[in-house]
Amino acid sequence: MAHSSPSLPVAPGIGVGTWAWGNQLLWGYDPSQDATLQATFQRAVELGLHWFDTADSYGTGRLNGRSEQLLGRFCAALPPQQSERLLVATKLAPFPWRLGRGGFRRAFAASRRRLQGKLDRVQLHWSTARYAAWQEGPLLEGLADLVTQAEVAELGVSNVGPRRLRQMHRRLAARGVRLASVQVQLSLLSPAPIEPGGVAEVCRELGIELIAYSPLALGLLAASHEAPAPAGARGALFRRLAPQLAPLREAMAVMAQRRAAPAAAVALNWCRSHGAMPIPGLRSPAQAEAAAAAGRWLLEPAERELLDQLAGGLMRRMPANPLASD
Ligand SMILES: NC(=O)c1ccc[n+]([C@@H]2O[C@H](COP(=O)([O-])OP(=O)(O)OC[C@H]3O[C@@H](n4cnc5c(N)ncnc54)[C@H](OP(=O)(O)O)[C@@H]3O)[C@@H](O)[C@H]2O)c1
Repeated sequence: MAHSSPSLPVAPGIGVGTWAWGNQLLWGYDPSQDATLQATFQRAVELGLHWFDTADSYGTGRLNGRSEQLLGRFCAALPPQQSERLLVATKLAPFPWRLGRGGFRRAFAASRRRLQGKLDRVQLHWSTARYAAWQEGPLLEGLADLVTQAEVAELGVSNVGPRRLRQMHRRLAARGVRLASVQVQLSLLSPAPIEPGGVAEVCRELGIELIAYSPLALGLLAASHEAPAPAGARGALFRRLAPQLAPLREAMAVMAQRRAAPAAAVALNWCRSHGAMPIPGLRSPAQAEAAAAAGRWLLEPAERELLDQLAGGLMRRMPANPLASD
């Protein structure tokens, strides 16, 4: 199904997601976890993971911005030669009050402050197409201004489908600005982007980096079927989706066993085998080790095909992000 473009690496690497860092509601964050999160970050960097994703909307309630703050603090604690090798990408939320070409200026400055200056790529978190289509163009122009004025090196987008991705690419190209990446929900439980006519095709054609968010389906694809479901909304989702997963889990277990790897590594490598860089959310040094180890091998084509087939046959998929547009 996937063919590598000459302009993209044969198999993308693995990045790190930080949504949980500061999120009490879904992820049960507590500031007492900060030392473990820093150890997770350090282990990831030591093992060669260098791509970190955050967002200005991460962190619930009074903890808003916490993920950027922690990432900024952890990067600043590294020796400069190590920190320089990292790529830190944030996402700016197009909230209804962020209007016009300058609508992201203050938000961008605030993110850069929280990240202590370590900000390499800015991404539009979602398109406003569903509720305020007119807002999107000026905001995108404003992000392009940040690149042309050398405030930030690279620009990406998120939660857009193939049609909008083409439009955005065209609009930025007219300004001479490269669209570096698109970030979409992509996993064995949300395979739409790699299906025919999906975003992956456009990425290959236009040389846009494809980034897979929630590549473990919030952890469900990494969890053993015997493990108790997590608390709250994640648990409810796990209970709804898990009963259909036995054949997929069995196939993943065989592939994992062959490499003495955990199931999580198979789920991450399935994304890579489709030309996408997975950015699993990591909360412990052990998870960082599993993610880094997954980057050292690849699925055989026949393994990928089997997983494609099993994923395609699932009756229930991850719910689509309500902010995603076509
Ligand atoms: N652009 C967007 O709109 C958007 C939306 C969602 C996410 N994202 C980005 O994508 C990142 C990843 O997505 P996500 O955090 O939603 O979900 P995910 O990566 O699918 O799942 C993350 C969870 O999987 C579990 N896990 C990770 N490694 C594991 C391992 N080796 N073994 C067992 N369990 C493991 C952990 O849960 P436990 O710690 O509970 O074990 C972890 O918190 C986010 O952090 C964020 O940066 C972007």
